[in-house]
Amino acid sequence: MASTITGRPVVQITGLHKAFGDNHVLKGIDLTIHEREVVCVIGPSGSGKSTLLRCVNLLERPTVGSVQVLGVEMTDRDVNIDKVRTHVGMVFQQFNLFPHKTVLGNLVLAQVKVLKRSTEEATAIALRNLEQVGLAERQAAYPSQLSGGQQQRVAIARALSMDPKLMLFDEPTSALDPELVGDVLAVMRDLAQAGMTMMVVTHEMAFARDVGDRVVFMDDGMIVEDGPAAQVITNPRTERARVFLHRVLHPTEVDDAELGQTDEIRAQAHPPAQRSRGLLPGGHGDAAVGPLKHKDH
Ligand SMILES: Nc1ncnc2c1ncn2[C@@H]1O[C@H](COP(=O)(O)OP(=O)(O)O)[C@@H](O)[C@H]1O
Ligand SMILES: [Mg+2]
Repeated sequence: MASTITGRPVVQITGLHKAFGDNHVLKGIDLTIHEREVVCVIGPSGSGKSTLLRCVNLLERPTVGSVQVLGVEMTDRDVNIDKVRTHVGMVFQQFNLFPHKTVLGNLVLAQVKVLKRSTEEATAIALRNLEQVGLAERQAAYPSQLSGGQQQRVAIARALSMDPKLMLFDEPTSALDPELVGDVLAVMRDLAQAGMTMMVVTHEMAFARDVGDRVVFMDDGMIVEDGPAAQVITNPRTERARVFLHRVLHPTEVDDAELGQTDEIRAQAHPPAQRSRGLLPGGHGDAAVGPLKHKDH
């Protein structure tokens, strides 16, 4: 985690629009991510978070606008997209491991095929990365023999084996059982502390607050807030972000607005101390043991 931002830009997005037919999904996104920076992207389901992330490595082609990754304009028709992509690791909600390959096989494959490493070198690098995610002893296992959390850690180790300059995460813990989330977040935290540049779409607000340098709040295809992580999470400027964060952190509460309650009644029902549960430094246990979360699906 960089406390001051001094690195060069790794991602520079300007004036990005993306439409799927009539569905105008991204409506003018400007976002720069510097070397060693960890930027967490939060926002309601359907607000365009995944589409934005996918535009970074051109899994989606922008309709209008500029996306530069490591100084390369991704929208140039003659750009060698495969070459740029080798520098960008991506981890999805679903782990996308090859089921018929062992853990080690999954990590070695792209290194040999894409980076033309020897099997010996690729194996050594794979084992180092498995070590880093705490799974070296499972190298001979098949994905189906691992828990979801272990599979996701393998997917991260696989991405790291390509020596990425940038890691993109799209809700990497959303498909996991709650007790498996912590190990994956711990690996991501280590990665952030080691200086990896990261863009993380997540509903894990404690992670965003503690590990993110910046938090970007998206709503309806736009960036509504972009600021220091702690500030956006604990003290958002906009009402839209406040409503979203409240819903994520208190998912079981009845929606007061729908009941037409006044502010006064709301304040009585949810005193301030309760509202900020799990978000105060050194406060109640929620954030420490397992961040509260909200599922997209
Ligand atoms: N490949 C696609 N084709 C058509 N529509 C898409 C595609 N991907 C996303 N969308 C639409 O874009 C909108 C934003 O989706 P998405 O980026 O997945 O949001 P989020 O990740 O914030 O939930 C949704 O309306 C979704 O249906
Ligand atoms: Mg998404």
